[in-house]
Amino acid sequence: MAHPIKRIAVIGAGVSGVSAAAHLKAAGLEVTVFERTGKAGGVWVFDARVAPEPAYPSLVPSIAETAYYEDIDRELGDSAHASDDGRENNENVKILHAPPGPCYELLSNNVPTGLMKTTLNSWPPGTEQIVRHNVLAEYIQDTAAKTGVDGITRYNTRVDRVEKRGDYWEVRTTTLDPDTLEKKTRDWGFDAVVVATGHYHAPKVPNIPGLKDWKEAWPSRIQHSKRYRSTRGFEGKSVLLIGGSTSSFDIAKELDGIAKTIYQSTRGGEFDHPVSMLPPRVKRIPEIKSFDLAQHSGPILDKEAIPYTITLVNGQVLSDIDRVIICTGYHCAFPFLSPYHRDSVPASEADETALVTDGTQMHNLHKDIFYIPDPTLSFIGVPYHIATFSLFDFQAIAVAAVLSGKTKTPSEEDMREEYLKKLGQKGSGRSFHSLRGRDAEYVNELLTWINPGIIAAGGKAVEGHTEEWKAQYELLREKFKDLLENKSQSAPSEKNIVDIKAEVREPVEAH
Ligand SMILES: Cc1cc2nc3c(=O)[nH]c(=O)nc-3n(C[C@H](O)[C@H](O)[C@H](O)COP(=O)(O)OP(=O)(O)OC[C@H]3O[C@@H](n4cnc5c(N)ncnc54)[C@H](O)[C@@H]3O)c2cc1C
Ligand SMILES: NC(=O)c1ccc[n+]([C@@H]2O[C@H](COP(=O)([O-])OP(=O)(O)OC[C@H]3O[C@@H](n4cnc5c(N)ncnc54)[C@H](OP(=O)(O)O)[C@@H]3O)[C@@H](O)[C@H]2O)c1
Repeated sequence: MAHPIKRIAVIGAGVSGVSAAAHLKAAGLEVTVFERTGKAGGVWVFDARVAPEPAYPSLVPSIAETAYYEDIDRELGDSAHASDDGRENNENVKILHAPPGPCYELLSNNVPTGLMKTTLNSWPPGTEQIVRHNVLAEYIQDTAAKTGVDGITRYNTRVDRVEKRGDYWEVRTTTLDPDTLEKKTRDWGFDAVVVATGHYHAPKVPNIPGLKDWKEAWPSRIQHSKRYRSTRGFEGKSVLLIGGSTSSFDIAKELDGIAKTIYQSTRGGEFDHPVSMLPPRVKRIPEIKSFDLAQHSGPILDKEAIPYTITLVNGQVLSDIDRVIICTGYHCAFPFLSPYHRDSVPASEADETALVTDGTQMHNLHKDIFYIPDPTLSFIGVPYHIATFSLFDFQAIAVAAVLSGKTKTPSEEDMREEYLKKLGQKGSGRSFHSLRGRDAEYVNELLTWINPGIIAAGGKAVEGHTEEWKAQYELLREKFKDLLENKSQSAPSEKNIVDIKAEVREPVEAH
C-alpha cells in the first residue's frame, strides 16, 4: 500500500460490516460505516414490508437492483412528500432507498449459534442453538453497541458510488431523512474502502420462456423468494418452487402441510439439497422448459388455479398451479462499483480488473478479500457454505491487520499467482467461493499469513477456531453428511424424479 491508511469507509452494517468496523477501530483507524437502512443486522432484520419485484427476467448484475428501482422512483416522482395524502408513496420512497431484505417471519439460523459467533461478543447465556431471526439481529446490534460501531455508523445512508481518485477513494452517499424524506447527497474521501454489503440484494430471475408473460398476466401469483414472508395465502394451494437450494428447501418445509401440493423444480445443480432432506410430500421435479401461455390470459378468481400448463424438460406437463415462488438466488452485484462490472462477459473470461461479470462470482480477490490490483479495496462476506458470523469475523481481523500496516499483502504478482492457482483448481462460477467443509482450513490459512506481522508489531498471535467450535462443527458435519458429501442424490435422475403423471394433462387449447 502506497501511503499510510488512516480513514476507512465500511459499507454495510450487517455482521460483516460491524465486525470489520470494530476490528479497524480497535486498531486505531478512523472508521465511518454507511448503512442504508435504519438498523444494524443486515439479513437478520425482519421487515414486514417487501422490496419491489425485480424485472422478469432480471436485468444484468450491475443494474439488477438499482436501475429497476430508479424507474419506480421516477414514476413516484413529486407525488412523494411528507403528508398524509402521500403516505403510501412516502413508504415507497423509503423502500426504494433501502429495500427490505429476504428475512421471513419464521426464519431461523440453519447453522447453530455456537458456530455463528464473532470474537467480539458472546451470546447471552442460555441462548438456544437454533433461534429466530430477531435473536441474531439483536446479537449484531449488541455487538455494534458494545464495540462503539453504532456511534460511527451513518444510518439511512446509502452508498451510491465508489471511485478511485488519485490515491484516495471518493465515496458518494445519499442520506434519507425518514421523517421529512429529505435526501442529502455528499462526497467523502477515504484511504481505503471495505465493502460488506452482503450477497442477497439483487434477485436472480431466470429467463424461462413464458415466465415473463405469466408474471404480467398474474402478478400476485408469481414472486421471488426475497418477497416471501409467511405461509399466509398459500393455504390449500398448489405451489411450484423453482431452485433446489436453501430458500426453496426452507420454504418447502414451511409450506408442508399448509399448501395442497408442493413441487420443487431443479436443474440438478451441484448444490441442490438432496431429495432425502425434503419433506416426503414435496415432489422434486425436473427443470422447467416453458411456462405455456395461450393467447387469452384474463383475470382469474382467487380460488382458481392458473389456467395454463408448465412443460418440463423431460416433456412432462404440469397443470393447476396456483402460485410460483422463484428461489433461484441472487446476483453477486455492487451497483456502486459499476465500472468494475463486466455484464456481458462470461465468468470464465473475466479480465484482470473485473470484480463481477455474470453475477455468479467475484473476480480478482486475494483470499476472497483483497482486490488484487488495489488492496485498499476489500470485501468481507464473500465465501459461501460456511458458518458466516465466525468466518467473516476472521476476515475482518485480516483486513484490520493489513490496513493498520501490521501485515502486508503479498506483491501483486504473488497474489495473482495464488488466485490463478485457485481458479485452476475450482473453476469459475458459483462454486468458486464455496468453502463447504473448509471453514477451519481457510481461517488457519488467513492466520498463518497475518500472524507473523502481528507478532512482529508486538501483538499477540490471533487464535483460530476454538476446540469447542471445532467439536461442534464435526457434529454438524456428521448431521448434514448427505448435504455435504452425497451429491448424487441431488440430481433429478430417473431415480428421484417424482412421478407426476397424476397431474399431467393435455395443454389447454389457445382460444
Ligand atoms: C434468508 C437467509 C438466511 C440465512 N441463514 C443463514 C444461516 O442460518 N446461517 C448462516 O451462517 N448464514 C445464513 N445466511 C447468510 C447471511 O447472509 C449471513 O448470515 C450474514 O447475515 C451476512 O452478513 P453480511 O454482513 O455479509 O451481509 P448482510 O447481512 O446482507 O448485510 C449487508 C448490509 O449492507 C447494507 N447495504 C447494502 N448495500 C448498501 C449500500 N449501497 N449502502 C449502504 N449500505 C448498504 C444492507 O442494508 C445490510 O444491512 C442467510 C442468508 C439469507 C438470505
Ligand atoms: N437459515 C435458513 O434456513 C435459510 C433459509 C433460506 C436461505 N438461506 C440462505 O440464503 C442464501 C440464499 O439461498 P437461496 O436458496 O436463495 O440461493 P442459492 O443458494 O444461490 O440457490 C439458488 C438455487 O437456484 C437455482 N437456480 C439458479 N438459476 C437457476 C435457473 N436459471 N433455473 C433453475 N434453477 C436455478 C440454483 O441451482 P443451480 O445450481 O442449478 O444454479 C440453486 O439451486 C444462502 O446463503 C442460504 O443458506 C438460509
